[in-house]
Amino acid sequence: MNEAKRERYLVTSALPYANGALHVGQIVGAYLPADIFVRYLRARGEDVVYICGTDEHGVPITLTAEREGKSPREVVDYWYAHIKNTFGRLGISFDNFSRTSTELHAKNTQLFYQKLKEGGYISEAESKQMYSPTEGRFLPDRYVEGTCPVCGYKEARGDQCDNCGSWYEAYELIEPHSKITGGPVEVRETTHLYLDLPKFSERLRNWISGQEHWRNSVKNFALGMIEGGLEKRPITRDILWGVPVPEPSFEDKRFYVWFDAPIGYVSSTQEWAEMVGEPDLWREYWQEPNAKLVHFVGKDNTVFHTVVWPAMLMGVAEDGDEPYILPYDVPANEFMNLEVVVDGERRAVQMSTSRNLAVWVHEALDRFPADPLRFYLASILPETADVVFSWREFQARVNSDLIGNLGNYINRTLSFTERYFGGEAPRPQELPEEVREVFEDFKEIEGRYEKRMLARRPREAFSELLALGRRANQFFDASAPWKSRKEDPEKTKTTLYACSALLGSIAYHAAPYVPEAIERLQEFFTGPIERISDLKLPEEYRVTGARPLFARIEDKEVAAAEEQLLRALRGEPEG
Ligand code: 2FM
Ligand code: ZN
Repeated sequence: MNEAKRERYLVTSALPYANGALHVGQIVGAYLPADIFVRYLRARGEDVVYICGTDEHGVPITLTAEREGKSPREVVDYWYAHIKNTFGRLGISFDNFSRTSTELHAKNTQLFYQKLKEGGYISEAESKQMYSPTEGRFLPDRYVEGTCPVCGYKEARGDQCDNCGSWYEAYELIEPHSKITGGPVEVRETTHLYLDLPKFSERLRNWISGQEHWRNSVKNFALGMIEGGLEKRPITRDILWGVPVPEPSFEDKRFYVWFDAPIGYVSSTQEWAEMVGEPDLWREYWQEPNAKLVHFVGKDNTVFHTVVWPAMLMGVAEDGDEPYILPYDVPANEFMNLEVVVDGERRAVQMSTSRNLAVWVHEALDRFPADPLRFYLASILPETADVVFSWREFQARVNSDLIGNLGNYINRTLSFTERYFGGEAPRPQELPEEVREVFEDFKEIEGRYEKRMLARRPREAFSELLALGRRANQFFDASAPWKSRKEDPEKTKTTLYACSALLGSIAYHAAPYVPEAIERLQEFFTGPIERISDLKLPEEYRVTGARPLFARIEDKEVAAAEEQLLRALRGEPEG
């Protein structure tokens, strides 16, 4: 690749809360699509840094800690390690996986705050908040329960009723009480700091309107938010776990977790720069106008990444410092439901982590290797609509597409070359017509794959990968090397040479999806893993000791995985 044309990317995946295990819904929302995209960019020789870390503050963490009788610190330490380990097992290839409870991050958060304040974007205001006299503290909305003021539902949450869906302020609840102690709570005045979002409305609208390459759903959602009128948002909370607020009389408050979390992307990049020994390098990804910042997120995070966070970035850029760039894209993905088989009938149900009705990634990885899981999940990434995870579909896709299409092609090319031609496929004098034809077809499909992948649509690119496999199998069948090998060994060698070149292309395009298999392939296949479009025909291809790359998924393995979901649906204990 031409050095001058190298593109610079900073890619992030949403920072997962450090309060529980990862499930497949999160993976298809923000991690697998980003990882596939990043691996593809790296293979092209682009300059890319892939950043993530755990989100360790806020009520989600303190609620878990209280439920489990632990300190927030114990909770995040445990889950940070667990989550990091699971990502590693799944082959998610972050350049840095940090956490938001570091000193560096606290300093950054306070710096962002100072700059926003200097820019005139911060104000202070009083508001009503629920206070628990017995616990001696203000309670966040999620700690409060009561009777819904609209429908009378008895167990309505502090901010929203699960029964009728109404939104209200916690103090509007009838007979509000603490979710932790059950004791009564009362309304008290409290002071918070607010981010002045309305001041950014005009700039945000202009900026978002110009993003022609965003997904329509994302763009329309963001513009709709602005059209609906932005309000000042509180950025502090009455809570003791989080980044301290550098203001007198805010000692017993902390920054709101959604204020500090996106700054975590910057902190993690700085940590990475330190790690690689060039502490200032992070600026080239955050302050260099040509760099492309891409935030992969699930759709529930859209507003924070398209409106609030860009406003923060705009706001800190004004004090004469080098400005931050704004996100180039926010590919937000839809949701994933689960298929449960009840008495032979397939039912799609909503995931529920609290009921353990979820496919936990670390458990799935105990059952199956990473590659087949990645392969199946990539085939159903929710790029345009909600999708359903099904263990039976997993089996079908792996056995027919991964093994029947791609694996089969790779296998027969390798074993044929090894068995009948001593593992050698030398370059022919000249490429015959049918080879030039299949190369042309490959170039066309490769072009479509590239376009879709660069448009951050790895699921669409995936269908082009399968098209490559089909076209290659067709070429193998039409050339029938098993017939020609006796009557015309020269022609057969040419066929196998061409097959190896196609294999190199398939491997190149499959690697972002099934990286571990393609690494193993290179232990017994020697030759460029390269697009046909860029290929300089090598002297020869070599095969030694080829083994199948993938194992079939058996009925009983799938039945066991399905059984586990069914038990969860029925509320039965794990067996
Ligand atoms: O929704 C979530 O899981 C959040 N922890 C995502 C944070 S993304 C970013 F801004 F840090
Ligand atoms: Zn209600």
